Amino acid sequence: KSSLEDTLLSAIRTIPDYPKPGIMFRDITTLLGNARAFRRAIDELVHPYAGTKIDKVAGIEARGFILGGAIAHQLSSGFIPIRKKGKLPHETVRVAYSLEYGLDEMEMHKDAVAAGEKVILVDDLIATGGTADGAVRLLRQMGADIVAACFIIDLPELGGRRKLEALDVPVRTLIAFEGH
Ligand code: PRP
Ligand code: MG
Repeated sequence: KSSLEDTLLSAIRTIPDYPKPGIMFRDITTLLGNARAFRRAIDELVHPYAGTKIDKVAGIEARGFILGGAIAHQLSSGFIPIRKKGKLPHETVRVAYSLEYGLDEMEMHKDAVAAGEKVILVDDLIATGGTADGAVRLLRQMGADIVAACFIIDLPELGGRRKLEALDVPVRTLIAFEGH
């Protein structure tokens, strides 16, 4: 394993049986609290796009806001919050997305992105890809050009990366955990 992977793996805390029996919860709060690991994760996620013009970074509530804000700042880009329904005050576009059990809805302001703008989508983790897929549909509905979707953690067995790649969204992840 590379030193980057070691740094990130050792900074992420795993909580067994949370939020329910059999789930291994990958907790990034310890990574966020570790100044060196937080910086390395952000630097590594942005480095392919340094020198590229990225108009906006879209972060998915809640954990995607923390990373997306840092990434937008580093790329000198704007930031778009993609929120759970009912939280945004102005006119929105809304999509349903699949969770492990059932559906939820997420929203984005209609004027958050203009047609043709280059956008990077950010979240902490991709599992089934249902959440990221919903965000891709919202952004594309307003004509965004999605340059990439970036995550710290991939759970490859759940197939999210393949789902996004099938939509022609390039996926960038830093570390993978087998099992879920
Ligand atoms: C978690 C995680 C991703 C999503 C990934 O968020 O932060 O957003 O699940 O799962 P998927 O690829 O199967 O869709 P969660 O819905 O727990 O909400 P939070 O970020 O607000 O805590
Ligand atoms: Mg989330």
